[in-house]
Amino acid sequence: MPQESEDKGIKLVSATNIGVNKGGRWIFRYVDLDVYEGELVYVVGANGSGKTTCIKTVLGLIACDEGSVWHAAGLEIGYVPQRIAVSPTLPITVRRMMNLAGRFAAAQIEAALEAVGLERLGDPQITTLSGGEFQRLLLARALIHKPGLLVLDEPDQGVDLAGSDALLELINKIRHDLNCGVLMISHDLDRVMEPDSDVVVLIPHEHDDPLASYAAKPVNLACSSQT
Ligand SMILES: Nc1ncnc2c1ncn2[C@@H]1O[C@H](COP(=O)(O)OP(=O)(O)OP(=O)(O)O)[C@@H](O)[C@H]1O
Ligand SMILES: [Mg+2]
Repeated sequence: MPQESEDKGIKLVSATNIGVNKGGRWIFRYVDLDVYEGELVYVVGANGSGKTTCIKTVLGLIACDEGSVWHAAGLEIGYVPQRIAVSPTLPITVRRMMNLAGRFAAAQIEAALEAVGLERLGDPQITTLSGGEFQRLLLARALIHKPGLLVLDEPDQGVDLAGSDALLELINKIRHDLNCGVLMISHDLDRVMEPDSDVVVLIPHEHDDPLASYAAKPVNLACSSQT
């Protein structure tokens, strides 16, 4: 059963003191993270600090070597990974790509494409999409299940500033429309500190002094220490 918190409503996912160790090296460590319904949680940190590994662990795609992860029963998760390998020679259209996530009715696919503003494009080959359009397509795939939790790994990569603003506005609209939790990795610290981001989880780089210098918005403060 989802847990209720007096302040924040229904808890969707909770990670307690998680860490992942590969080949004797801690990729990240000591991370606490909760996401509630309708809440926006950013994960920030330097390149290589373990953000992608951390959210994959929260998703259950990677097992943690310490700590624990809890999901609300029956939680639907939509995930937009940092990378998707698409062969430039692979003939796949936008609508075919939508169907690769499962079998959906045409109306569901249309609704998801409409939600991200791609319905007007017709059914082009995905290799012809711009960077921003491709990110929107990945978002549409994650949305089609109407997830309770949306997990996004740098969704605005390869997108220019105006496109990035529009994409993040769209993600916020989806958050409000579906009342879903959003867990998002971002490098855009200005945006992360905006008032509508509820919580920030900081993963310091392995050479940083753990915890000491991170007081910006430490509602949930997490650190990785590499020893
Ligand atoms: N399966 C693995 N085995 C060994 N090392 C790994 C494995 N997966 C990731 N790493 C290493 O862990 C570190 C963190 O990787 P990760 O992709 O989580 O970082 P990140 O914070 O998402 O970086 P970026 O900002 O560049 O996306 C990197 O040094 C990476 O090489
Ligand atoms: Mg990453």
